[in-house]
Amino acid sequence: MFEKTELLPPDPILGLSKMFRDDPRENKIDLGVGVYRTPEGKTPIMTAVSEAQQLVVNKEVTKAYTPADGAPGFADNILKLVLGEDSAAYREGSCSAVQTPGGCGALRLAGELLARSGIEGLTVGSPTWANHIPLLSAAGINIHTVPYYDAAKSEIDFDAFVAGVRKLGPKDVLLLHGCCHNPTGADLSRDQIDQIIDIALDRGFLVFIDTAYHGFAKGLDEDAWIVRKMIKCLPEVLVSYSCSKNFGLYRERTGALILKGKTTERTKALHSQAISIARGIYSMPPAHGGAIVNEILSSDELTALWKQELDEMRSAVTDNRQNLVTAARSTRLGNRLDFIGEQYGMFSLLPISNDVVEKLRTEQGVYAVSGGRINVCGVNESNVGHLIGVLEKYMA
Ligand code: LMR
Repeated sequence: MFEKTELLPPDPILGLSKMFRDDPRENKIDLGVGVYRTPEGKTPIMTAVSEAQQLVVNKEVTKAYTPADGAPGFADNILKLVLGEDSAAYREGSCSAVQTPGGCGALRLAGELLARSGIEGLTVGSPTWANHIPLLSAAGINIHTVPYYDAAKSEIDFDAFVAGVRKLGPKDVLLLHGCCHNPTGADLSRDQIDQIIDIALDRGFLVFIDTAYHGFAKGLDEDAWIVRKMIKCLPEVLVSYSCSKNFGLYRERTGALILKGKTTERTKALHSQAISIARGIYSMPPAHGGAIVNEILSSDELTALWKQELDEMRSAVTDNRQNLVTAARSTRLGNRLDFIGEQYGMFSLLPISNDVVEKLRTEQGVYAVSGGRINVCGVNESNVGHLIGVLEKYMA
């Protein structure tokens, strides 16, 4: 049966973590996978999560199946968090959510739903997260790219992006990043988002927003602005949501797919389709992470603690960006890394070739993702000088 089955290379992002772990060099630096890390290189469990987890364990009386849309209360709490409790969308019930196994599960569920709905293709700005295209193609949809980011100038090429978006029609889907664009860290401005909304209304395509870093750019409400505005203005919207980073629940595989149809009836139809697709793949999502998120978001005290911890992570990431910029300025790199200080979230894209990415890893033990993506969480006070010295050598 499997004589001809090919041996595949490791995943371009997750594979790096193993290489890093196996690297014996003491001064190695991990700028790879998108995981938050403290200056000591740790990814601790958030206190709000530990406390909620204890409550979940204390209350749990059964391991019987959960409902098809996930841990009780989770979907409603996610809708409140993302849409805003006072929003018309939340109050009128125009959207629904299903819990999914992480943001990847939400993307895949959406991909399958789009394939069932007979879309012509899904368009995404380039570059995008390394897993977007394989994951969504595996659902059987055609993926197209349009330029998004000018790596040489380290800025969004909005004219080129819009030129591509204007060609989409009613059978097309545009995939956008909610905030903290992966891999570039360059987010659309509010004015640019408004322009995309006008084009979507004019051309009739569906907008699908992937939100994996809610709270890591400017704050929970500010980061949800794109989703709230699109849901307010557009007749149909899909949102994939991840709790991996903002709740630090990476391994618990906790996420959601948010669905907005043209009417409440259409939303219900989409919800029923999402549940039936999930039934055909994994039946229902794992309950534990959803129960933890529900416990946090159902308690004012735990929510306040969680928000405070999320704020701390966000400001640590911002500090790391500034530290890189400042350290670079005192070398021959000068202001060439200034753009990093103006971007959001864990990632920025160094303007380097894949040859240089490879050399950084093999010659220097500096692990960046191919294409030049770095996770600024890997930078800390004790390694920033060394890192900038290495970058100066290869970039200046
Ligand atoms: C990343 O982009 O590094 C994260 O989203 C982890 C992953 O699954 O790729």
